[in-house]
Amino acid sequence: MLVHWFLATIHLWAFALGFWAVLSRGTAFRHLATGVGEVRSVLIADNLWGISAVVLLVTGGMRAFGGYEKGTDYYLHQPLFHLKMTLFVLILLLEVAPMITLIKWRVAQSRGTAIDSGRATLFARISHIEAMLVLLIVVAAAGMARGVTFG
Ligand code: HEM
Repeated sequence: MLVHWFLATIHLWAFALGFWAVLSRGTAFRHLATGVGEVRSVLIADNLWGISAVVLLVTGGMRAFGGYEKGTDYYLHQPLFHLKMTLFVLILLLEVAPMITLIKWRVAQSRGTAIDSGRATLFARISHIEAMLVLLIVVAAAGMARGVTFG
């Protein structure tokens, strides 16, 4: 029961942290695009977003398939679980371009070379779309947890 509670708490904390971090990253990208921001702010927010995504995946995976909630069978037959996973994969796909660019930025920073922030506006938009998808995941999660089905 305690593990149950612990995993649920960490999952919700990771949601709160992740939502805040991806919104902050979007704002930091936007500031950078307008010439008033710092690369450091983008990278800090990105680290927190990355950590929370991993924690969501690990705690979510344990809850869904580790027998800490309603069991694997329940989730695999719950349409809103599939919606939730589809939205999560969508976030991962949207994340590919910013992730590659931010790895290049980190390398450039460590070498002391210039950073190309030409796509900062695009990445700000992507980050804010990801934040919206996180909110949609919460809608799916709340229905999934309560056994909502269609038809
Ligand atoms: C951005 C990613 C995610 C967000 C924002 C999120 C959010 C949430 C929230 C808010 C709940 C609580 C629902 C409620 O009781 O009302 C929840 C529960 C849950 N989530 Fe996630 N989640 C995410 C990713 C994942 C992943 C990747 C998995 C599985 C691989 C997962 C599996 C679960 C499970 C099994 C529950 C428990 C549902 C129940 O009580 O039956 N989540 N999630």
